Amino acid sequence: MKITLSRPVYGRCVQMLEKAGHTVNVLDENRQLEAFRKEFVNSDAVITMLSDVIDASLIENARNLKVVSNYAVGFNNIDIATCKRLGIAVTNTPDVLTDATADIAMTLILMSMRRIQEGQKQLFSGQFSGWRPIGLVGYDLAGKTLGIVGMGRIGKAVAKRAESFGMKIVYCSRSGVKPELMWPCLSMSGLLSESDVVSLHLPYSSETKHLIGEKEFKMMKKTGVLINTARGPIVDENALVEALEKGTIFSAGLDVYENEPAVHPGLLKLPNAVLLPHMGSSTLETRERMGALAAKGVIEVLAGNKPENLVE
Ligand code: GLV
Ligand code: GLV
Repeated sequence: MKITLSRPVYGRCVQMLEKAGHTVNVLDENRQLEAFRKEFVNSDAVITMLSDVIDASLIENARNLKVVSNYAVGFNNIDIATCKRLGIAVTNTPDVLTDATADIAMTLILMSMRRIQEGQKQLFSGQFSGWRPIGLVGYDLAGKTLGIVGMGRIGKAVAKRAESFGMKIVYCSRSGVKPELMWPCLSMSGLLSESDVVSLHLPYSSETKHLIGEKEFKMMKKTGVLINTARGPIVDENALVEALEKGTIFSAGLDVYENEPAVHPGLLKLPNAVLLPHMGSSTLETRERMGALAAKGVIEVLAGNKPENLVE
């Protein structure tokens, strides 16, 4: 069968697919959208990236398509309902990127609380004039409360890390209290007003669009920090820029943006916006595991089996 990879990936992905007897077509890093769409509709299986928009018209034109294997844990880039209606399986890459993403969330917490990006900017622009007791002061992590919104695998992994820095953990979750966890489960408004840091770890869907906006920023502490390593549109970016400008909250650490790859120009100007280019899963080991899991999903579906990473 013909399998298209939307972009080159690290590791054994291609090898695994070829070993299973498939013909693999890896598109170029610089390929245009049209080239991708043309290959997509002529494939039996496609390994897609979170930046590929897989909409109904594309799916409906892909007559031979049996599986869309998303090289990501999130799958909001794919029209799942259309795939279901047409009997096309969708798989993702959960678990394998949990630690890498939690590490990036922790990095952003540290950077935002301790003003690391501002300090680096000063140093690189020649403005470090020696140690001083005043200036570039941030906040301690120890003793502060971290509110985790969305207590799945990544949320739990961030909570564990933050606890070792002396932070107290509270969470809120769509599925309610998780009896296996000792941390307090709060309402969204309770979490926003009690937390010093609010970190988002939930999937993006129409229900979570702009979950954090003007009203929510007002409920947070003036010293509060917002961390987003999940998906950009969960946060109303215009409202965030305003909250950071006006000092409604202290700072924000972002790995994802509302209109990726565009970054709100207001964010780029703000000293208290700590910004990374969507690199939560970007370690070699994680990317290799993602490739292997993406290949496994395709191989299982094409062999008539139900893969473990099927999106249901
Ligand atoms: C990254 O954002 C992912 O969903 O894997
Ligand atoms: C999602 O929450 C994942 O962790 O892998």
